Amino acid sequence: MLHRKKNCLNAPGTLEFHEGILWGDIFMGDSAPSSKPQQTVTLTDNATGRKFEFPVREGSIGPRVIDISKLYAETGMFTYDPGFTSTAACESAVTYIDGDKGILLHRGYSIKELAKKSDFLEVCYLLLHGELPNPEQKKEFVTIITRHTMVHEQMQFFFRGFRRDSHPMAVLVGTVGALAAFYHDSLDIDDPRQREIAAHRLIAKVPTLAALTYKYSIGQPFVYPRNELSFSENFLHMTFSVPTEPYKVNPILARAMDRIFILHADHEQNASTSTVRLAGSSRANPFACIASGIASLWGPAHGGANEAVLLMLNKIADKKNIPEYIKRSKDKNDSFRLMGFGHRVYKNYDPRAEIMRETCHEVLGELGIKNDPLLDIALELERIALQDPYFIEKKLYPNVDFYSGIILKAMGFPTSMFTVLFAVARTVGWVSQWKEMIEEPTQKIGRPRQLYTGSPERAFVPLDQRK
Ligand code: SDX
Repeated sequence: MLHRKKNCLNAPGTLEFHEGILWGDIFMGDSAPSSKPQQTVTLTDNATGRKFEFPVREGSIGPRVIDISKLYAETGMFTYDPGFTSTAACESAVTYIDGDKGILLHRGYSIKELAKKSDFLEVCYLLLHGELPNPEQKKEFVTIITRHTMVHEQMQFFFRGFRRDSHPMAVLVGTVGALAAFYHDSLDIDDPRQREIAAHRLIAKVPTLAALTYKYSIGQPFVYPRNELSFSENFLHMTFSVPTEPYKVNPILARAMDRIFILHADHEQNASTSTVRLAGSSRANPFACIASGIASLWGPAHGGANEAVLLMLNKIADKKNIPEYIKRSKDKNDSFRLMGFGHRVYKNYDPRAEIMRETCHEVLGELGIKNDPLLDIALELERIALQDPYFIEKKLYPNVDFYSGIILKAMGFPTSMFTVLFAVARTVGWVSQWKEMIEEPTQKIGRPRQLYTGSPERAFVPLDQRK
């Protein structure tokens, strides 16, 4: 196995063997030692005329990066990039997005192929381990996850502390963070085995906590996981079955659920994943880190958009009102935005939205829903928006959240549960990115700086002298 200490930039170095492991610090990435000259950029400070040179690094695909880690030490200046529109905060091999071409790859496999040919637990294995599992690895992984789906019996008592009408994301943030109060044998982030067990527990138990959250909100009894069911069948069973009668999972809906989980599994360094990475950089335990990701995902600008789309479609209520809402969404003085439209990275159609739209038609067809008024409004809204110069010029297309709510509503989920389902799926992405960060040899605590615009130092004014 070749270990590379990622601290050299295509510089000559040495290869040594330690206990059968080949250690090298000679090159970056997966290519052989590069004979290419080190690429650099030069920055000129026009105020002083001083020139500074910074290395440029190349990934396997996608934009190159300027390594500015020494910029402050050398120039006494910070970079300024609120919202991180031009900042690569880390190196990662998990997910690649090309926003202009509408490409999404997980470990090199396209989301379209994975959604059509794979299943969610197989994608979980791929995200966690970097390769698709062979039949034996898949069988073992499915068994492990299945056997971790139960939560500690005492966790049920947490729910009684919440109001029944609590927002399910408030309950999920609390109960996922509370996993750290029970699973003390998977908190040591320096132990690879404990990291792996924590990852398995999170992938397996977040769906159970999500189903318990839903059952508690409607006053129905909790349903235990069933090991003979697949991941998505089990989730639907825990959510919709009742002890008073048999519940048969509809295979079309189970497949749709599984595909929706695949579409939401990971998405590069989005807001919630960056939150998990920053929380993890302080060496917080994995359960606390995933709880921080759930909190960030809750926002309507992020994962909360699927719930916001349904609320928006209900507010529009009729196709004749669409032009008024499109007008409002362009008005800078109006806070209204077309929820489910736009994306920081995709300046083309979100590839997930296309698959979601197909799944939407499949599910509504299977459920015999001929004309769903909300779907009619959504399709008309999409048609009009995609022809509107404002949306064309700003490259605003439907994103993953635009159609998901319509499917989930048709499947019987209340709107307030939509972002919880997003969190169930994204847990594997968060935990895969957290694991990658913790295993990064140069990993350090994240600590951004600022452009200070406050008051210079001033003397304290005693109370009796203040006006
Ligand atoms: C997710 O990052 C990820 O990968 C996220 C995600 C994942 O899988 O993790 O893909 C999941 O969060 C999808 C996005 C869900 N959010 C929504 O659907 C909410 C509605 N969308 C917007 O809030 C917005 O598009 C964002 C937040 C998604 C992106 O915002 P940006 O990149 O900061 O872009 P911006 O707000 O600067 O918008 C650029 C311009 C602005 O106009 P100008 O100031 O240039 O004149 O486009 C306008 C915005 O006003 N604009 C919109 C709009 N989105 C952007 N105008 C109307 N409706 C919209 N939805």
